[in-house]
Amino acid sequence: FNVPVAVNEPIKSYEPGSKEREEVLAAYSELFNANTEIPLFINGKEIKTGTTGTVRPPHDHQHSAGTYHIAGKDEVQQAIAAALEARKEWSQMSWENRAGIFLKAAELIAGPYRAKINAATMINQSKTIYQAEIDSACELIDFLRFNVEYMTEIYSEQPESTSGAWNRLEYRPLEGFVYCVTPFNFTAIAGNLPASAALMGNVTVWKPSDHQMLSAKVVMDVFREAGVPDGVINMVNADPVMMTEEVLTHPDFAGIHFTGSTGVFKSIWGQIGANINTYKTYPRIVGETGGKDFIVAHKSAIPQQVATAISRGAFEFQGQKCSAASRAYIPRSMWPEVEKLVRQDCDSFKMGSPEDMSNFITAVIHEGSFDKITSYIDQAKKDSNAEVIIGGNYDKSKGYFIDPTVIVTTDPKYPTMETELFGPVITVYVYEDEDFEATLKLVDSTSEYALTGAVFSQDRYALGTAVKALENCAGNFYLNDKPTGAVVGQQPFGGARASGTNDKAGSKLNLLRWVSPRMIKETF
Ligand code: SER
Repeated sequence: FNVPVAVNEPIKSYEPGSKEREEVLAAYSELFNANTEIPLFINGKEIKTGTTGTVRPPHDHQHSAGTYHIAGKDEVQQAIAAALEARKEWSQMSWENRAGIFLKAAELIAGPYRAKINAATMINQSKTIYQAEIDSACELIDFLRFNVEYMTEIYSEQPESTSGAWNRLEYRPLEGFVYCVTPFNFTAIAGNLPASAALMGNVTVWKPSDHQMLSAKVVMDVFREAGVPDGVINMVNADPVMMTEEVLTHPDFAGIHFTGSTGVFKSIWGQIGANINTYKTYPRIVGETGGKDFIVAHKSAIPQQVATAISRGAFEFQGQKCSAASRAYIPRSMWPEVEKLVRQDCDSFKMGSPEDMSNFITAVIHEGSFDKITSYIDQAKKDSNAEVIIGGNYDKSKGYFIDPTVIVTTDPKYPTMETELFGPVITVYVYEDEDFEATLKLVDSTSEYALTGAVFSQDRYALGTAVKALENCAGNFYLNDKPTGAVVGQQPFGGARASGTNDKAGSKLNLLRWVSPRMIKETF
């Protein structure tokens, strides 16, 4: 299998005066004012239903940056029919052709579409340019490139044969279509969920988040320009309850590739179970869901490292990563120093719109999210077992802005130690220095999730103890590093427990879920 060796796309710095900075600012201002019309894409055609929603930048929610069309039942059924029709050719197309299309998509993002995809992510999801560059442009490029390499590794895994019997595994796509549901927070995930299933020969019906439609359109434009045939990836926005019902009652539903909330995923799982006799095949269920990701410091840790992990891990992209640190366990002797350093960081963070590239904190995604996060902050201000020690202020008059906020609690099971807020809030529990092992047990028994976690220590024995004690607590486990920012090709990403099926996005494991191998034995 001769394919280009996958390498991570170098991250651009966007220094003041740089060409890439000028380009992305120009793309931002053009796209911000373009009021883009976003159709559905079914069978390669742009469909405008006339029922629409508005793209509102979270940092400027009175502004309309676009209008997206919303599908009804008919369009959802058309998308499924288009996918099944496209399957006839796509499932027979050679792997070289499929790989070529997605490698071209990677190059389009690396080159002509880079500024636009970043600008769309800044406007639509309120990401800073640095976060957009990392996880819309570069991460999507990496997914596309590495998946091609992983695909060839899968295809090359073949059983032994003997002289009289030739055994070969044929990695067929699933018989039916794959439903892809993507979240607002990562444009790279929006592209990867349909692309990875399609790369393996599947056809897809893709439902992006309402709060991602502008970025999703740019991704779809890339796929079309790269040569994804009509009907292979159909992008349809619709009421999620209606759409999921239509999809999950279809006999050809063959799998779901999902990133989103735990509650929605569990309910989808239940619907699939209830409909199991409807389907031709057992559907593949792949989901990455919530997190309540932790930082644990041992008394031997370096306070500066712990503080930086909190400031970056909890507050980059306003904590709206499923991997974001949202609970921390710090030894009493270390806490004053860590607190001082985190406070310094928070004082230095500027807050505002992403087009001012000196801002580190921008807005949270929408009003519902703002109201939920701030209600927990307000409750903590009242509760006797919690204290808001940093931040705690908020303002939604122009955009949904919340200060980076640190809550300290004396109750390790305090609600914000267990509930995912998806916002710029971290809760700290200060433990007695000698209680490290008891604290590890506490980490394990607190919260239903197991996505990411980080342990800081200069003591090898303490690290080893934590690795064992927390073995089921995080699918991505970090020693002396923040728990966010997994890189495709380096740290395959995903968690267990209520955080997902742990099928590791951007890995062979994930791609294996999108094939239904046929074993062929031929005797002579
Ligand atoms: N890959 C992201 C991270 O590690 C989460 O999806 O932060």
